[in-house]
Amino acid sequence: MGFLEIAKKRYSCRNFLPNPVEKEKLNQILEAARVAPTGANKQPYKLLVVQETEGQEKLKKAAKTYGAPLSIIVCGDHSKVWVRPFDQKNILDIDASIVTDHMMLQATELGLDSVWICYFNPIVLREEFNIPAGYEAINILAIGYSAEEAQSPDRHEKTRRPLQEMVCYEEFK
Ligand SMILES: Cc1cc2nc3c(=O)[nH]c(=O)nc-3n(C[C@H](O)[C@H](O)[C@H](O)COP(=O)(O)O)c2cc1C
Repeated sequence: MGFLEIAKKRYSCRNFLPNPVEKEKLNQILEAARVAPTGANKQPYKLLVVQETEGQEKLKKAAKTYGAPLSIIVCGDHSKVWVRPFDQKNILDIDASIVTDHMMLQATELGLDSVWICYFNPIVLREEFNIPAGYEAINILAIGYSAEEAQSPDRHEKTRRPLQEMVCYEEFK
């Protein structure tokens, strides 16, 4: 599959089968995270992999993961992140998100389905998984095999704004 084919195939799955994700596939997803670029190559993150029943129960208290057998909590590390000197903008969300995106698209390429989750209770998540103060849970990526019909790769004609609305050339319009 070429890149655009993968990008169009991916959709947010909100109903997973209980079938586990194979270890080799998980390792490849984590490798996709590892090679992701981050600002100034600071790599300011920790990936918390949740697969076991106990972890799933804890996760349920903070987020809805739609029965996914695997969830990866992407935690940003505030002690490592690059901060832009002009305005002190902290790019931790950006770094965590490119890492998440790499994993999500790698999962698609491997025939897995996923959903990116930001709707979670960060206080509960911190408590349940003992996330230290210097770290911040930024994204959860739930991964598994879909129990629902896949959405069409052609859906973007209707579900995305046209390119001419999003892009301008040479000056901001
Ligand atoms: C940053 C981000 C946060 C999201 N948070 C959630 C979430 O908490 N729960 C959820 O069900 N979907 C979540 N989504 C999925 C979006 O709703 C979904 O990507 C969007 O509606 C487009 O649909 P598609 O992914 O099927 O193309 C999130 C997606 C992104 C990129």
